Amino acid sequence: MQRRDFLKDSCRICMLGAMGATAINIAGCSPSVGNAMAGNNALSPEVIDNSVQIPLSLFDKLPVHIISPKKYAYEVAVEKQPDGTYKALLLKCTHFANQLQPSATGFSCNLHGSRFNKEGSVIKGPAAQPLKQLQTSISQQNLLISLIK
Ligand code: FES
Repeated sequence: MQRRDFLKDSCRICMLGAMGATAINIAGCSPSVGNAMAGNNALSPEVIDNSVQIPLSLFDKLPVHIISPKKYAYEVAVEKQPDGTYKALLLKCTHFANQLQPSATGFSCNLHGSRFNKEGSVIKGPAAQPLKQLQTSISQQNLLISLIK
């Protein structure tokens, strides 16, 4: 494993803990948890008509997942909210469009140091705008996420 991959995976673990997944014993994680955190096995759905779909069952045991849509420049953080709705944040820095990394408190940019909380609000600049929230909808047993071109 490359150092960068190790750090990326480690940050994902920290983010999941910060987002309320600490109650889950890592040793007892379901395969989807491992998939969400492991770079090589990350959820990577096909992009069809500028959207992706993921099974709702993924959220049965873990409320947050990072997905990497195939042939799409950015990852997306998807979290099931306590009210049963879903929130999808585009992990694209609003400063100069760098891919963000999960951090202990949300997401961080390694280009100029901006940080965002798990809701996507800026907690440290130079970025001034919150993360883009992607539109979601439910179709049968899947969550559809509309991507931004
Ligand atoms: S591109 Fe993220 S802080 Fe500049």
